[in-house]
Amino acid sequence: MSAPVYLDHAATTPVAAEVRAAMLPFLGEVFGNPSSAHATGRAAREAVDEARARVASALGCAPAEVVFTSGGTEADNLALRGALDRHASRGRHLVVTAIEHDAVLKTAEELAGWGRCEVTVVPCDRHGVVDPEAVGDAVRADTVLVSVMLANNEVGTVQDVAAAAEAARRRNPAVLVHTDAVQALGRLPVDVRALGVDMASITAHKVYGPKGAGALYVRRGVPVAAQVSGGGQERARRSGTENVAAIAGLAAAVGLVEAEREREMPRLARLSERLVEGVLEGVPDAVLTGRGAPRLPSFATFAFAGVETEMLLTLLDRQGIEASGGSACSSGAHMPSHVLLAMGLPPGVAGGALRCTLGRATTADEVDLAAREIVAAVTRLRSAASVV
Ligand SMILES: Cc1ncc(COP(=O)(O)O)c(C=O)c1O
Repeated sequence: MSAPVYLDHAATTPVAAEVRAAMLPFLGEVFGNPSSAHATGRAAREAVDEARARVASALGCAPAEVVFTSGGTEADNLALRGALDRHASRGRHLVVTAIEHDAVLKTAEELAGWGRCEVTVVPCDRHGVVDPEAVGDAVRADTVLVSVMLANNEVGTVQDVAAAAEAARRRNPAVLVHTDAVQALGRLPVDVRALGVDMASITAHKVYGPKGAGALYVRRGVPVAAQVSGGGQERARRSGTENVAAIAGLAAAVGLVEAEREREMPRLARLSERLVEGVLEGVPDAVLTGRGAPRLPSFATFAFAGVETEMLLTLLDRQGIEASGGSACSSGAHMPSHVLLAMGLPPGVAGGALRCTLGRATTADEVDLAAREIVAAVTRLRSAASVV
């Protein structure tokens, strides 16, 4: 059987050959601890410093403003927990949006459940767009942090984070602004100064890097309380001996997608459009979730009334088409996605969600095949349902 058509790049991406090559020395001869003063340690330190400079240059910040983490989830946790812990004297109110990744939403909910903060959840409209002014309106005198994701992981909608940051600071100039830029990186410019954020989360595995490597940008002069303490690495913001290979992989991956972004994104936009057209031709009533909003070019997302996501994914998988329902975390569960429900989709439609996310290796032939198989699977499931 031929290789599967992989249309789940928002879940994770294959490690690029150049990224693997950049990592290998640190799984071999360059094995030092970056904290050791000898030559072996210094070689590892140099690699970490170089990686920090590359990531900083992609984000438009200073190297000292980059804190390496184990990925996007840890970066989001450090932003929320670290800000609340460190700025308790200012208040304990958090503002998040209804379409955040669980790394933000569940963390906020958990902290609220423990009585450590109060949370205001700002809704989105039916296109999956959050009104920046509504973010500002939710800010109070005791608001410590506002978290608005740059691009959504389920429907790919892009938020005007700069406007939200501006609206938030108009209400409370001391408020900190965080953005989860995990999905946006490599697909949109992620310039932290232009976005006007104090913190931004990224991860390597969505951009052809290894899993378990990410970073949090923390603006100079913004203290955050470390959530992992110990030897004081990462300027005491995240202790633990650095995962040098993963950090080198993150930097190589960031460099790769940034170098290719301007050429690659128009290509992916054309391919996702082709996929949408192919699906619509066969299933004219397919709901194009997130359409009508600025979106990542790599996303083609649908919802099919009368179809269950899990059955659809199973049929597609059997035909060698790999996609997902919503986020990778919830695709195994039966729950309709919180993002689609926040967009006002009825549960009967949201329960038939399909997320196709394209990447570097995606071709027109693959997209055409995927469109045919999606149409066939939806038609089959609907006719089976009508027989019952
Ligand atoms: C928007 C968003 N934030 C955070 C994460 C979590 O990142 P990681 O898998 O590196 O922990 C993901 C991954 O699915 C994501 O899509």
